[in-house]
Parts: sequence; C-alpha cells; structure tokens
Amino acid sequence: ATYAPLPEKNCTAITPPYKKLIQTLDYVRTVLNRPLTLSEKILYSHIHNPEASLQNGLVRGETYLQLSPERVAMQDASAQMALLQFMSAGLDRTAVPSSIHCDHLIQAIDGAKSDLERSIVSNKEVFDFLESAGRKYGIEFWKPGSGIIHQIVLENYAAPGMLMLGTDSHTPNAGGLGMLAIGVGGADAVDAMTGTPWELKAPQVVGINLTGKLNGWATPKDLILHVAGLLSVRGGTGRILEYFGEGVENQSCTGLATISNMGAEVGATTSTFPYSAHMGAYLRATGRAPVARAADEAAAQGFLSPDEGAEYDEVININLSNLEPNINGPFTPDLATPLSKFASFVKEQGWNDKLSASLIGSCTNSSYEDMTSVADLARQAKAVGLTTKVPFLCTPGSEQIRATIERDNVTETLESIGATVLANACGPCIGQWKRKDQTEEENAILTSFNRNFKSRNDGNKNTMNFLASPTIVTAMAFAGKLSFNPMTDSIPLPSGESFKFSAPAGQDLPLSGFTPGDMSYYPATTPEPQPETEVVIKKDSQRLELLEPFSSPFSGSGPFEFTDLKVLMRVRGKCTTDHISAAGPWLKYKGHLTNISENLLITALNDEGGEMNVAVDYEAGKEPVKDTIPGVAKRLKSRQQSWALVVDDNYGEGSAREHAALQPRFYGCSMILARSFARIHETNLKKQGVLPLWFADKADYGRIGAGDTVETIGLDALLKEQTQDALVDIKVTRRSGETFTIKARHTMSSDQLKWLRAGSALNHIRASMTS
Ligand code: F3S
Repeated sequence: ATYAPLPEKNCTAITPPYKKLIQTLDYVRTVLNRPLTLSEKILYSHIHNPEASLQNGLVRGETYLQLSPERVAMQDASAQMALLQFMSAGLDRTAVPSSIHCDHLIQAIDGAKSDLERSIVSNKEVFDFLESAGRKYGIEFWKPGSGIIHQIVLENYAAPGMLMLGTDSHTPNAGGLGMLAIGVGGADAVDAMTGTPWELKAPQVVGINLTGKLNGWATPKDLILHVAGLLSVRGGTGRILEYFGEGVENQSCTGLATISNMGAEVGATTSTFPYSAHMGAYLRATGRAPVARAADEAAAQGFLSPDEGAEYDEVININLSNLEPNINGPFTPDLATPLSKFASFVKEQGWNDKLSASLIGSCTNSSYEDMTSVADLARQAKAVGLTTKVPFLCTPGSEQIRATIERDNVTETLESIGATVLANACGPCIGQWKRKDQTEEENAILTSFNRNFKSRNDGNKNTMNFLASPTIVTAMAFAGKLSFNPMTDSIPLPSGESFKFSAPAGQDLPLSGFTPGDMSYYPATTPEPQPETEVVIKKDSQRLELLEPFSSPFSGSGPFEFTDLKVLMRVRGKCTTDHISAAGPWLKYKGHLTNISENLLITALNDEGGEMNVAVDYEAGKEPVKDTIPGVAKRLKSRQQSWALVVDDNYGEGSAREHAALQPRFYGCSMILARSFARIHETNLKKQGVLPLWFADKADYGRIGAGDTVETIGLDALLKEQTQDALVDIKVTRRSGETFTIKARHTMSSDQLKWLRAGSALNHIRASMTS
C-alpha cells in the first residue's frame, strides 16, 4: 500500500550517531573476538570509555558496564523526583536530549474532554512545575492530553540502534524500532541527564526465533501473552529478549512495539528486533525519513542485526502460524490460557461468566493498526444492529492517533456501537479510573493493557482482570461473557438469526497519512534552555519541595571517619524498596521528600522484638522512648545525630525506586551494614552519599543492635588515597559499654568514593562543574 507520510521533521537531534557507535563497536570486537547478538551490538557500542572498561574482558551476566545513553524520557509521576535531583546538580541543561510526558495523572471518569479539564486543574501545581523545569533546562514538555509516554517516544524519538532510558517500566516499548529502551528509576535518569556513565550488569540474551506468520485472530499481543506464559514473571530478569527469524520481517513496527512493551511483564531488561522494512516504513510515515536513510546505511554495515553464529544464552522457537489468541490472568500476566480453552478454564474455576467491562488502549495497544482492527469488528457488529453489552472504553495512545482515527471515521464507528473515548493518557491502566458501576463484588474485566495485578485498574481487589488483544477484548464486549470464543461461537440476534464475526482486518499505517492533530500539545521543535525561567513550586505545596543538597560529613582535611553513628535498628529478613518507601497513597508525595519520608521503613520488621514499624530512641532522656521508625529517625535528625542501620540479606530488592535511598539519607542515615544488598539499591545508596557495607562475617549481623555506636577505622585512607582495599574496620560500642571490632567490605569504585566524600553524587557533579 502507499500512504502519505507526515512532512519531514528536522531529525538532527534524533538520529543516532551511527558512525561513532560502529567505531566503538569495532574496538569492542577486537577485545571480544566473537560473533555478537544485536542486543550486544547496541549495548556495547554505547560503552563509555571502552578501553578502560574492558580491561578485564566482558562476560554476560557478570561484567558491569558503564554506558552512555542517548536520550531520556520521563512520565509525570516519576519525573518529579528525577527533575528535583537534576536541579540540585546545578547544571544549566541536560547532557542528553530529554522529554517529559504528562500521562499518568489524568483520571478517567466521563470521557476525554471533561476528564482532561478536571485533571489539569487537580494536578496544576505538578504540571506547572514540570513545564517550568522543562523550559529552564531545555527538556521537551508534552502537555496533559498529548498522549502516553511510550506511544509518543515511538512516534517521535525512537530510532534503530539507539540506547535510551525512561523512568517507566514499559519504556522497552520503543524496542519496536530495533533499539534498546530500558526502564529505570529517577536516579538513573539523572545519571544520563548529567552525563554520568550509567551502570548496568551486561545482561544475558535470550533469542526468540519466530517462524511462520500470524494469521486470523492471532496478533502480536498474543505472541507476548504466550511468551509470558512460557517464561513467567521472573523469566526475563537480567536478560534481554532478542527476537529474530522470518516471523519478525512481516510484522508491523507498532506490533513489534506491543511485543517489546510487555517484555516488562517477564522482568526482561528490555526487548529488541533486527531492523526491518516495516520499521523503515513507520519512520517515513511519521516524518522521520532522514532517520530511516541513516538506519538503512547502518544496517548495510551489519550494525542493526545479529552476527551470523551469534550465541544466545537460551533460544526459544515459536511458529507464529500455530499461535492462537491467548487470554492471561487474572491477577498475574503470566497465567496464559489459549482462547480455545478459556471457556472451560472459567467453568473449572467456578467463576461467574458475566463480563463487566472491556477496555482497549494503553501504551501496549493503541496503535493505528489496533484501532482500525477493532473498528473492523465494530462495523461488522453494527451492520447486524449489535451494540456492546458492557461499558467499552477506548484510550488512543497519542494526539496523533486520536486525530488520525477521528479523521478516518474510526472514532465515529466505535462510538456508534457504544464506546466511550477517553483522554490520550494512561487512565484505567494505572488505576486512574472512577468506575460508574463501582462495586466491591467479584467481577471480571477484559483489557488490552499489560499489567493485571490485583486492584490495579479500579482499586477493587475483587475485580478479575484479564489481558488479551484489542480485537478479542472488543469481540467479547459484544457477547458480554467470558466463555465466548469469537473464532467459533455466534451471537444470537433479536431476529432469531445469529451472527459470527469474520477475522478482523486492520491497516498498519493510514493510507492518507498520519495527521498530527492539535499542535498546541506539542513541544517546541528544538527546545533551548531558558535559564531565566523560575521553576514553579507553590508556596506551602504538599506535593513538591526543592531538594536541599545533603551536606558532606567530611569537611576540612580529615581524618575522614564516621566516629559516632547510632544504630537506629536492626531490620529482620526481607526488606524491599516497598518496605523502605511504600507506594499506594504515598505516591502523591513523590515530589516532596519531607512528606514522603514519613513512610520510611513502616512495613519493616524490627529484629529486636519482632514488631513492624517500631523502633526505640535510647537517648531520648532518662528512659528509652518507643516510637515508629520514621518517628525515631526524626528524633535523631532533630538532635543532628547521624545514624546507621543494620539489615539482613538482599536489602533493597525490588524496584529502582530512588526514594528508598533518599529518605534514610534525608533523616541523617550515613551507613547501612548489610548481610547483602540488592545491587541497584546499593548503587542508589552510594549516589545519595550513604555508605553501604557488607558484613565480612554474616554472623556479625546479630551482634549489633539499636542504640549501639559504630565508628569506621580505615575509611580515611580510602577517601583520601582511594586505596583499593575493600575492607573497613568497624568498632562497635554496645549500649552496655562492651566494645569489639568487626570487618566489613565495601564495593565502591574510585568515582563512587568521590560521591561519598562530597556527600552525594550530585554534590560531586556540582563541585566538578564549578572547579
Ligand atoms: Fe501508562 Fe499503563 Fe503504559 S500506566 S505508561 S499506559 S503501562
């Protein structure tokens, strides 16, 4: 088919520097001397200072890489703390092009127009802050209503071979354009924005070999639902999913993005595909022909596909011709059931067959192809007088999609069979959904989204949420029941006849081209920093607060030792970033460190007494005072008493949430002694100027308790001379007066030692700028 492309954009800032990347890769090849997967090519071509980094070789799953990402994208919830941290680095612009997207804070109630207007008012202070910070530092600001971060990135910024970070777990969506896009916490985004090398353990690479061709009702969504079933929610951890084979060639770019998007559901670092003709067509259709031309050249040099004979850590073979639609859930995205078995699965479980709502859209499934496939089913049903039997909510992924489907009568078709079109935003996918039929009862919904944890969509833990392709979700909306199989079953009509759907037919790219829609949603084309801009933070705001730089404990000429740290508590067992900084209602304080710190460790267990959120202040006065954990932390802070924590194994596992490191530091934590750390959290602690130490002998964990005093012996040499000694002595003075010394191990690089000495990584960056 021919289609009209959008007018060509200025692509200078969005074309990867292929020449430089290929040069770096050529050097890496001389060290590794073996065929490389595509994931390795993209990743290793972004290694910062490869000569120094690869001195000890490179082993997948073991070596830590220092990388230079090319771009950062942030959504409105996570951007707040990322920007507050960036601001405290004292730079006047970001080191790499960056963008802000207002999508998570829009609540769905009645429909696009009123929902958007209401949400803009209720989140005004956050949007004003993000917009003004964007203007000051030259970060592109996509207004509320412009669309979902990942759809906008795919339409505007993604490019084959690029390495990008995004402060959202579905950032891998951009892998649909043959790049590596990785979801991170705000502190990692700040690394890229300040030009600090970003660290990642070289992931393993899983090869997924696709043969055959999707047909009938099977869609790219069904492929990833099937893969989720194969790999489970942890199967991709520390690994990149790299697809290859003839089955990649014939899939649309937005279909590949759907597959890549949901790699997050198996915990994969990201997913990617070799450059294909469909990717080139999508780039041209979205006004990026110069990127397509540059990618064509890079592909001709072998940069955008795996080498012949490249070795994968595991290979999975899937024949697309045999794939049938899948329905995954409830409550976990890896519980995959083929459509032909779903009716009996529902019966076996004893669930009510009635469907209560159908929802399509989200960053996973809101492409032009998705919407036109759905409209095809709607037209078929409308022709026999059917309307949907349950509420049917549709979320376009971007203003460009909204305007294009409106022009092409898709919207009109959907509304004519009962659909409510919501704002171009996350809405019900992230729980921003005020259901009109809100119930606490058990009920079932079908969505084309990507996550289905309990309560995620409507806050009701009894809502069973199933994931499927947009076309299966739509067909089910007409039947109103879970046991309906549109491939085999018919819907009875009032006339006594019955109606059976034909397999849906969509259009991957619009024949008349995309239309950008309302241009007022779009940022300036080349945003230049406007340093005179004042970043807007409302006086007395409860949601936003400027970050005060943490002071360094090491002033003057030393000696640089911690001499008097009080142990706040000994934490027992599993302590994830959720235990350290809870989510839920606390999310509204993500941009306000003082307010969110009130949740510090509130679900952690105190090993001395076994109670949750209980600690003791032993120096409160004549008698010790029992209080909450944040309560005791505040008491210590008010006395300017620095403190330490003693924690168990794998402390800080879970997400990359930087609040879990910022909050203890905010209250005066200087050291955490652990049996072991989760790596990402350990790095986050170092960035915030907290010293993470591993017990050399894990049994020492039980020898130190609340109210004890700990001091370092040997830190001075590390900080001044940057010696490579990994051991530090810790002198412990117990409350009883007993003293002893133990050994602890640090894992800090020479750069990280500079962060500790400066009080935080951002202090170090700021000081380097002014020196
Ligand atoms: Fe938004 Fe849901 Fe995607 S929250 S970014 S639409 S996963």
